[in-house]
Amino acid sequence: MIRILLLSALVVGALSCGSPTYPPQVPRVPNSWPWQVSLQYSFNDKWYHTCGGSLVANNWIMTAAHCIRSSWTYRVVLGRQKPSTEESGSLAVMVSKLVVHEKWNSSQVTKGNDIGLLKLAVSVSLSDKIQLACLPPAGTILPNHYPCYVTGWGNLQTKGKSPDVLQQGRLLVVDYATCSSSGWWGSIVKTNMVCAGGDGVVASCFVSTENQWEVHGVVSCSSSLSCNYYHKPSVFTRVSNYISWIQSVRATRALSPGALPCSPAPAGRRGLRTPPSS
Ligand SMILES: *[C@@H]1O[C@H](CO)[C@@H](O)[C@H](O)[C@H]1NC(C)=O
Repeated sequence: MIRILLLSALVVGALSCGSPTYPPQVPRVPNSWPWQVSLQYSFNDKWYHTCGGSLVANNWIMTAAHCIRSSWTYRVVLGRQKPSTEESGSLAVMVSKLVVHEKWNSSQVTKGNDIGLLKLAVSVSLSDKIQLACLPPAGTILPNHYPCYVTGWGNLQTKGKSPDVLQQGRLLVVDYATCSSSGWWGSIVKTNMVCAGGDGVVASCFVSTENQWEVHGVVSCSSSLSCNYYHKPSVFTRVSNYISWIQSVRATRALSPGALPCSPAPAGRRGLRTPPSS
């Protein structure tokens, strides 16, 4: 299974997103990460969880580019704790469009740009269990040791089984200067990434505050040696580096009137479909 987790950081700010009806706690509280979705692909008439993602608008999901295969059929499940179990208040919505960052190259993972957007076939209504993620302001850099949570259905142990229930784990940010130093990731890590963890331990801890959460990272890669290898923190795509890209993808798609006619239309009707002549 491809591992994907979302990195959320608690910050002060506006409340139309990032403020769960059921705030996260330790032990975990159901539906306390209401922007977390399960991305699922169809195979032999069944749906399989492959990656997590986050709801960034009523009809857009942010996930990792490495989770997206252009030939696959996807749906997104929202408001659910167990990806494959029907739960009241949860929704399954088909994905109508896959957009992978232009500079993503799966043969060059260490160049970064491991980010994609999925357009939903219908806009979802928000509820106590389905809410929007906030994105950080463009360019935001979290300081060293800033506490974050990873959430998702990724493996709990190296080579372990993936969990049924949505997991959360507290991770501390490792700043770029540290993460890119020798003995850590070195030159593998770029400024378009965020590192977190790497102390050999993932602990779930309670953070008390009533402010807002922001999604700062999308899990891109981690040590192939083990989940919690000393000085090899998980590497996330730094979302704050892609705010304008996200905006441009959404804007382009929103403004597009659909396919234009191949032959020029008469003045005044350019771009409009003419009725078939009888
Ligand atoms: C992706 O990276 C590989 C390996 O470096 C390279 O051969 C290929 O041309 C790249 N693809 C694109 C679309 O840039």
